[in-house]
Amino acid sequence: MQAWVIGNWKQHPATKAQAVSLTNELTQAWAKSPQHNCQLMIIPTYLHLDAVATALFTSQSKHHQKNNSSLSPQLGVQDISAHSYSTGAFTGDCSAAQAKDLGASWTLVGHSERRQYHQEDNDQLCHKIRCALTAGLNIILCIGESLADYEQNHTKQTLIQQLDIFNDLTDTELSQLSSRLLVAYEPIWAIGTGKVPTLDEINAVNNFIKSHLTQNFANLANTPILYGGSVNEKNAKTFASSELINGVLVGGASLVTDKFLQIAQAFSR
Ligand code: PGA
Repeated sequence: MQAWVIGNWKQHPATKAQAVSLTNELTQAWAKSPQHNCQLMIIPTYLHLDAVATALFTSQSKHHQKNNSSLSPQLGVQDISAHSYSTGAFTGDCSAAQAKDLGASWTLVGHSERRQYHQEDNDQLCHKIRCALTAGLNIILCIGESLADYEQNHTKQTLIQQLDIFNDLTDTELSQLSSRLLVAYEPIWAIGTGKVPTLDEINAVNNFIKSHLTQNFANLANTPILYGGSVNEKNAKTFASSELINGVLVGGASLVTDKFLQIAQAFSR
């Protein structure tokens, strides 16, 4: 299975010009690296989406003839409105269809920073998944336990509760999701902290997620399971050595092209 290396830019960088130059830097370096064989994705803020999409897709058409062997980077958004079944009076929200219209093909759903700062629960996240499916966006569902859960050995209970979201979807929706879903296991205590679980711990959790999906939601049995939380150019090789880690969701290190591409190199397995 081709590994995913996904850069979540969060609320970075400060200006549109910086977002465009980061995109150009990345696409130029990527086009020169035909040996890289993983699926790359970048996820800028909504305000930079249009400019990043233009830079990304212009560069892709330029490099297309010269180099077909590198997979073109894809584009995602960090969130979509739970009220985005149609346009409407929802101040401050952005819809799945608007993201798609600007060139995004993926959306994150349920990143821990959204759960923490915006009190997003399974009910809201379920609407977001439905809106994404309706608009034709693919979904990266983020799940993960807090430090307290981890210390009390409650990781599995937390993950089961977060994966319960799929109980609210119909069989038709689950079957649509089967080819359009990635699950990213991101322990909250590992995000932006420099602390990472051991490879054995991640393997055990990813294996657990896979079996839970297989047993309870047969349509989702082949869902790629990623890891996220303080992934960098130094530890990427260790994560890439495991067949149970189908890729990584990268925050801080995705803002430095050289580091991000070293991570992509590690996952070009
Ligand atoms: P980090 O963020 O790589 O900076 O820890 C990961 C994430 O939040 O997806």
